[in-house]
Amino acid sequence: MSSARKLFVTTALPYANGNFHIGHIMEYIQADIWVRTQRLLGNAVNFVGADDTHGAPIMIAAEKAGKTPQQFVADIAAGRKQYLDGFHIEFDNWHSTDAPENHQLAQDIYRDLKANGLIETRTIEQFFDPEKNMFLPDRFIKGECPKCHAKDQYGDNCEVCGAVYAPTDLINPYSALSGAKPLLKSSEHFFFKLSDPRCVAFLEDWTQNGRLQPEVANKVREWFTVRTNPDGSTSEGLGDWDISRDAPYFGIEIPDAPGKYFYVWLDAPIGYLASLKNLLDKRGEDYDAYMADPQLEQYHFIGKDIVTFHTLFWPATLKFSGRKVPDSVFVHGFLTVNNGEKMSKSRGTGLDPLKYLGLSMNAEWLRYYLATKLSSRNEDIDFNADDFMARVNSDLIGKYINIASRAAGFIAKRFGGALGEVSADGDALLDHLRTVTPSIIELLAEREYGKALRETMLLADRVNTYVDQNKPWELAKQDGMEGRLQDVCTTCIEAFRLLTILLKPVLPALAAQVEAFLKVQPFTFADATTMLGKGHVIGEYKHLMQRVDAKQLEALFEPPVQAESAQSATENVAPGGEELAPTITIDDFTKIDLRIALIVNCEAVEGSTKLLRLTLDVGEGKTRNVFSGIASAYQPADLIGKHTVMVANLAPRKMKFGVSEGMVLAASHGDEKANPGIYVLNPWPGATPGMRVR
Ligand code: MSP
Ligand code: ZN
Repeated sequence: MSSARKLFVTTALPYANGNFHIGHIMEYIQADIWVRTQRLLGNAVNFVGADDTHGAPIMIAAEKAGKTPQQFVADIAAGRKQYLDGFHIEFDNWHSTDAPENHQLAQDIYRDLKANGLIETRTIEQFFDPEKNMFLPDRFIKGECPKCHAKDQYGDNCEVCGAVYAPTDLINPYSALSGAKPLLKSSEHFFFKLSDPRCVAFLEDWTQNGRLQPEVANKVREWFTVRTNPDGSTSEGLGDWDISRDAPYFGIEIPDAPGKYFYVWLDAPIGYLASLKNLLDKRGEDYDAYMADPQLEQYHFIGKDIVTFHTLFWPATLKFSGRKVPDSVFVHGFLTVNNGEKMSKSRGTGLDPLKYLGLSMNAEWLRYYLATKLSSRNEDIDFNADDFMARVNSDLIGKYINIASRAAGFIAKRFGGALGEVSADGDALLDHLRTVTPSIIELLAEREYGKALRETMLLADRVNTYVDQNKPWELAKQDGMEGRLQDVCTTCIEAFRLLTILLKPVLPALAAQVEAFLKVQPFTFADATTMLGKGHVIGEYKHLMQRVDAKQLEALFEPPVQAESAQSATENVAPGGEELAPTITIDDFTKIDLRIALIVNCEAVEGSTKLLRLTLDVGEGKTRNVFSGIASAYQPADLIGKHTVMVANLAPRKMKFGVSEGMVLAASHGDEKANPGIYVLNPWPGATPGMRVR
């Protein structure tokens, strides 16, 4: 193998104005499979993401939610982990474009562009909302379409006739924020001079020299060539890029320009670097040295809707601020669900990723299914429920998992787990597998996951044919066939191991289970050339993966009950004085072990007006000491002899007055000052100490 490559990989940074939808998850799974492939090849990868936090829409959404933008995006960020962990997406770091690293980097990059003579100021006229006292982004101006006269169209294009225009072309424009009639007001804006011949020459080369997918390169070419349009007008080629916005704006301040901020799309991709820097800083590695290594390769996974930003603005920003430019950008199409429409950007429709996990559907079913559909091309793909079930049940389980379940039992029961000799026919089969393996790994590395999995399943077919020919279940019944039985089952286990190595980037958790079952170190692709060998002892086979149940899919696509009223309720009401915490899965919930506890003793704590010391019996044959901040609501005598509910698996906490070995549950209002009162939970009669609450 050639020496290890050094890779810096990102996915697009999602807007921090909503939870992930299935389109985001698809992008992360695509990138995650590639990153895992590279790691299994022995390459060194840093794989980072971040929230894209800035811009007018997020500022406005935060205001509507009654939060500061910082609070608003922090709340969104808090919900990310459950999705990423849930789908086995292993970013090395998740950061924020509002983090200090990004402020610093964006300002540095801007200064470098300016010093390079590529920043220019111009005065432009724009719509201004006199009630909100702010310039209005195109999306927040509405009016009548100048072409077809449809009412209530957005400032940039008409959704009825498709016309594209400037907001100033709208008839009777109004502010979508306040309804006020917008005024034209002039203001100084900063431009990145992409029309500079240096930029044009660089981008023509960078986009057309074979680094991009051919269909992407062709599309991009249209944007910077001077051309005649079908209607006779001419397009100018690359225009300068307006990179500033006026206060109020949630963003990064432009140095030496009070009241001016970077347009969100200037600082968003810089967030890739900020997240990497944050990661390297945490590890005590040098960011500048890392980026300066000529061996470093940089790749961005993105969707087809943000190609301009990543193939024109972003490489130019890096190039002309004297920084490393990306090696390539990997563009994927859009995911639709059950032939549905493309998911709305902010609120995905169709397949709710958390609902999927909440129904205990296996994350790796989805990883596998999406992978079978993905290629290196920029093309849309559809999630189809029937197809999903067929691929998982008949291919993944029926062809692959089955190999292990058909062979492993005999090895365990009849041969004490020990593998035997492989004879000529088995060897021929394994040889074929080993011969094809490198080309499948190559397909994975080229992001041709669909092809790679089809090839892998063809190998599984061969193995199953071998099993059907040799029928271990019949060998097991015949006298004197012990040796052949061990031979056939050994061949199956060796083959299953090779298939697992190939599937590992797609099915990492399953591969880990197989590694445990085979009693081997974590696989890398280098292991695909070796065998376990005679005498290796494997563990007991436990069923590795359930089939998809049609009922699960039915439940997944069942519309939520009374979605509308539930929706408006969560939008307007904060029950009990605080908003609901982000959705969790049943797995998250079961991590919390709640038990019925008998309060055997309760006393005041000397030196504390808040705490009571509780002695609790949770049926463990010993008692626990728990401090609880309920002294304002209860006299010790009120509580002794009562039952309550406690968190029994909370890590013990050392407090000023002693160690607290758990927590009792009590209700209180979110605004305790306005609505005082603490209410300890008390189960219905009949519950006894130690019973689990679920
Ligand atoms: N914030 C910008 C990206 C900034 S990158 C410096 C943005 N955010 S987004 O949340 O709208 O989209 C994030 C990624 O998800 C993009 O790559 C986008 O193409 C992708 N997808 C959004 N909807 C999608 C599908 N329905 N299917 C597949 N990917 C989709 O754009
Ligand atoms: Zn129109």
